[in-house]
Order: sequence, then C-alpha cells, then structure tokens
Amino acid sequence: VDTDVVVRCDYPMPTPGDVITTSSCRRREYSIRVVPDEASAIEAVVSEIGFASVAVVTDEMVARLHAERIASALEDRGLRICTVTIPSGERSKSLPMASRLLDELADSHIGRRDVLLAVGGGVVSDTAGWVASAFMRGIPYINVPTTLLAQIDASIGGKVAVDHQSAKNLIGAFYEPQAVVSCLSYLETLDSRQVISGIAEAIKVAVIASNGLFDFIESNITRLLHTDLGSLQLLVHAASVLKCALVERDPYEEDLRRPLNFGHTVGHAVETATGYGPILHGEAVALGMATALRISCARGLIEERASARIVDLLSAARLPVVSKELAVVPADDDIIRALGKVRRVRGGSLRFVLPTAIGSCAIVDNVRDDEIRAALHDLSSGRR
Ligand SMILES: NC(=O)c1ccc[n+]([C@@H]2O[C@H](COP(=O)([O-])OP(=O)(O)OC[C@H]3O[C@@H](n4cnc5c(N)ncnc54)[C@H](O)[C@@H]3O)[C@@H](O)[C@H]2O)c1
Ligand SMILES: [Zn+2]
Repeated sequence: VDTDVVVRCDYPMPTPGDVITTSSCRRREYSIRVVPDEASAIEAVVSEIGFASVAVVTDEMVARLHAERIASALEDRGLRICTVTIPSGERSKSLPMASRLLDELADSHIGRRDVLLAVGGGVVSDTAGWVASAFMRGIPYINVPTTLLAQIDASIGGKVAVDHQSAKNLIGAFYEPQAVVSCLSYLETLDSRQVISGIAEAIKVAVIASNGLFDFIESNITRLLHTDLGSLQLLVHAASVLKCALVERDPYEEDLRRPLNFGHTVGHAVETATGYGPILHGEAVALGMATALRISCARGLIEERASARIVDLLSAARLPVVSKELAVVPADDDIIRALGKVRRVRGGSLRFVLPTAIGSCAIVDNVRDDEIRAALHDLSSGRR
C-alpha cells in the first residue's frame, strides 16, 4: 500500500459485560490579549492564525467600521480570506442565521484546520462560536470583540449559543475560542448606549467578585462613560481576569449555582418579553440586578445601605433600575410570564443570585413570583 503511515490495531476479543465506561477530556487553554490599537490587534491575530485560511464573520455595522479593514490587512499578509456578514442586532442570534452561516461555510474553501474569525459584539461571537462548534464537528475560532460588553464578557468563557423565541441562548454549546484579541480603539466608534450596556456586565462581575473593581468603577464612572480609553483598558483587563477566574472554577457549569448569572434571571426574562432587540442585554441585566438586590433586601440578606450603593452606581452609569426607564417598557406580568416558562423548564424553581455584600452572594431557587412582583413594584415606587 502506498502510504506514509500504517496504523496497526489488534485488540483481543473483549470480554462480555453490561456496562462500558469510556471517557474523553479536552483541555483547552487560550490567551486573551487586551491591545491598544488595530496594528497590535492584527499582529496578535496573524500570530494565532498561522497559515490557515480564514472565514471572517461579522455584522453589517462592524463590517463597515472595522472588519473590512481587518480582512484586507489579513489579505495583504497573504492569507486566504472569505467574509460572511450578518445583519446587526440580537435578532441575528438565531437558528436561521446560524444555518445561513453554515451554508456559506459549506460553499467556501474553509476546511477542518482553518479558522473562523468572529469580529463584532456578543451577537457575532455567540452565533459564530456556535457555528464554529458545529461546522465539521468543530473548527477553531478567534474572537475579536468590538463592543465593551463582548470584550469584558461575551467573548470569554466558551459559552456559545443562539436564541429561541421561547428562551435566550436555548440552543448552544461550550466551545472555547482559540484566542481572544480585545482592541481598545474599536470602542471609540461605539455609541454611548452600547458603552453603558457593557458597563452593566462590569458592575455585575465587580459586585459578585471584587471590591477593588467596584471601587474603580465608582471612582472612574465619568471617564468610562466618556469612552476614556485609558480607563476602559484597565476595566477590560480587570473584568477579563475576573471572568476567567470565575469561569475556571466550573467551566462547564456542572454546578448551576453560578454567581456570574447575577441579574440574568430577570434580565433574560425582560429580553424575552420585549422580543430580543429593543432592550440591550446590559440594560436588561441592570434591571435584573436591581430586582435581585431588592429581593435580597426584602429577605434581609443584604443591608439597605450596601444595596443602595450598588443601585446608585447603576444609576450613575445611566443604566435602567426601574422598568419604566427601559426603551420599551414590559408589563410586570409579561416579565413574570417569561420567568414562568423558565420555571416550567426547571421543574418549578427559578435560580436567583442574591448579593449579600460586594464579593459575596447567596444562590437560591425558592424565590416566589409575589417576591419578584413586590421587588419590581418597590423599584417603580422609588425604593432602592
Ligand atoms: N457568551 C457569553 O458568555 C455572553 C456573555 C454576555 C453576553 N452575551 C450575549 O452577547 C449579546 C450582546 O452583545 P453586544 O452587547 O456586544 O451586542 P451586539 O453584538 O448586538 O452589538 C451591539 C451593536 O453594536 C454594534 N457594534 C459592534 N461593535 C461596534 C463598534 N466597535 N462600533 C460601533 N458599533 C459597533 C453592532 O453592530 C450592534 O448593532 C447578547 O446576545 C448576550 O446574550 C454572551
Ligand atoms: Zn450577560
């Protein structure tokens, strides 16, 4: 036979038995680089890609602003590139869009050892990451997050998914990127509402894990809101380190009691109730954090003063802490109904992360609808 490698296997006939136990374990280590400008970002991306062909996945807005330039810089380096662009916005994080991406990859020159480069916000990294996990049973992908939210949160951790009309992130996987390259200068083109949405996730990680980061955000909130790149660099770096530390404790969520879900129980319900799109993820999470804090106060788990300090920081960041501050105001009943679906899936219980202080939280699954209603009502009547 004309081959270079001959593989020989000759196991003995296995002994009969009922249970066959097998295991597999893939350890994935990847680096996150926070770089100041595009030149450094391209260097970092090129060193990760090597000689592979690249499928750049981006959205329409980011294509115009940054991704087309990145693609031509990679082409100038002699790399073979194809680009797939999806419409901007949460509605693209869907099964039909993922299916379209898979069709485009199937028609392209991208093979098993090539790389998918996700350039955009969390919608692009979640959708492209999931497509990368499925295409040819998994091809490598590199995240170049271009929103603050994606730099500090969505691009890290390997949770990839698309939404379903019945629930956020319903269809997905754990599939870590090969690398993450966060470039600060891309944040300069972000509108202030998107910057604020990203600050919500930074406040979240600070509340659950770091007094130091909380103090930093409190002291620098004005600079952060004005897109001061020096302050943003410190924020992106610190929040990325903390997210990694929290994810590493339980990367595949074998224990579902995750502090990182702070604000997300009600937050996801708000996004579902408003049809994915009009309310930004960070805005929904901010309302979710305020609601969880109110429940925590009502249960006597956190001092009113400590809770007020957190809610005040959310307000100082111009984040919504009351439903009526949202761009589209969901009725409390709609939020409860969306939570009801999650409750049903989870056998009647809903998991809430209830902070007890900065750096500590209780994770409970016995929060009743009337407590959630009371919390939403207290917030609308001005209680912090
Ligand atoms: N996988 C995770 O662990 C994780 C964590 C947090 C959030 N998420 C998900 O991330 C998504 C939200 O991500 P997002 O807030 O980045 O939203 P997004 O991806 O929709 O981006 C927001 C908007 O900003 C535009 N944009 C992106 N970069 C830009 C730039 N540099 N300049 C100007 N405009 C730019 C986009 O075109 C889009 O219109 C949600 O679906 C959320 O569920 C996932
Ligand atoms: Zn989130």
